[in-house]
Amino acid sequence: LAGVGALALGGTATAIAETVPWQRAARPEKPPAPVEFYGDHQPGIATTPPSALVLTAFDLATNDRASLVDLLKRWSSAAEALMRGELLDTSTGSSARLRDSGETRGLPPASLTLTVGFGPGAFDAIPELVREKPPGLSPIPPMRGDALDDARGGGDLVVQACADDEMVAFHATRQLTRLAKGIATPRWSQRGFGATTDVRRGQTPRNLFGQKDGTANPQPGTLGFDPVVWVQPGDSPPWMVGGAYLAVRRIRMDLDRWDLAAASQQNKALGRDTVTGAPLSGGGEFSAPDFGATDNVGQLTIPADAHIRVANPAFNDAAEMLRRGYSYDDGYTDDRRRDAGLIFMAYVRDVPQQFTPVLRALTERDAMHAFLTHAASAVFAIPPGCQPGGFLGDTLLG
Ligand code: HEM
Repeated sequence: LAGVGALALGGTATAIAETVPWQRAARPEKPPAPVEFYGDHQPGIATTPPSALVLTAFDLATNDRASLVDLLKRWSSAAEALMRGELLDTSTGSSARLRDSGETRGLPPASLTLTVGFGPGAFDAIPELVREKPPGLSPIPPMRGDALDDARGGGDLVVQACADDEMVAFHATRQLTRLAKGIATPRWSQRGFGATTDVRRGQTPRNLFGQKDGTANPQPGTLGFDPVVWVQPGDSPPWMVGGAYLAVRRIRMDLDRWDLAAASQQNKALGRDTVTGAPLSGGGEFSAPDFGATDNVGQLTIPADAHIRVANPAFNDAAEMLRRGYSYDDGYTDDRRRDAGLIFMAYVRDVPQQFTPVLRALTERDAMHAFLTHAASAVFAIPPGCQPGGFLGDTLLG
């Protein structure tokens, strides 16, 4: 056996010597143009989701308005440079606080987007902001079956970094975290991944249950998108116009139990065919579900407790949302259960009207819920985008 091993090893060594090491193999792909930082809306919401997510929440270490303004200015100019693929200050003489750590040196920006927002606590901490707390930012009330880890939820500020290169998303978060020193301290961070190849091919990406996830999402650029996602003129408070609210749920998915379920049970729990994504009432992925359809024994084809029925706007006072979640895999818990699932993220114009009632309905009636555990929760107000010379949050703090 030892001889066989040595032979095999010898063979491998020769192969390596004769070919280009994989680390150095050329990948001739034209990098996509960087995502624009400035604009009416912050990037990272209506922009195509790249493959990697680093979502970080911070607690404010100050109640001083001027310090928060200082931080937002620093974050905005850093975000603008990072999204263009620039490093921050690289001069060796710079103070450690300003010096870039450099792990993305030479890398393209990889569609990096940085999105910044305020948690409810920011408005409580800073006396001048108490009266500015938006009604659309109400925290999500406890739901039956919640197993929320407080240390992994909440937060006064949030930074969402998305990129097609995990190193780029990590680096950008690292720089913003460094720039926050003394003003805000990291509270939690979650890393997620998505099925980017599907996204690049214009197909709906799949989640860890193997389902096409995002089919019924409002589409950026269509008439229906803006009133669902962006705070509109006339909504309160005025400084949020052009912004959105972000609801985050860390949802553990019981993959082992799901894998044991029959395909027909999986399809019925969702109300769609897992493989094609088509509603069980027939047609293709993008056909409208017929919620009144019945089979030959009079049973609803899309069952009463199917996820897509319970979540559909028709049964929720027309409440809609933009879902922009990422899968996560954090290995195994202390009791050896797999900690994997969905970092569910929904962007809405108003949390208590568009998100909370749908979440409550799903908690109470969704057949898929039996396979899910909600393990953390957070809400943030994402102010509108900024223009050159301005900074993120300047409609509130400028
Ligand atoms: C791990 C948890 C979840 C998984 C795996 C999941 C998966 C899916 C899938 C596969 C679809 C069908 C395809 C599509 O339209 O995207 C869907 C639809 C939907 N989900 Fe979820 N979902 C989860 C949690 C949630 C939560 C927490 C909410 C909101 C509170 C939600 C809201 C919706 C809505 C609004 C739809 C579209 C319904 C329609 O109009 O057809 N989902 N989900």
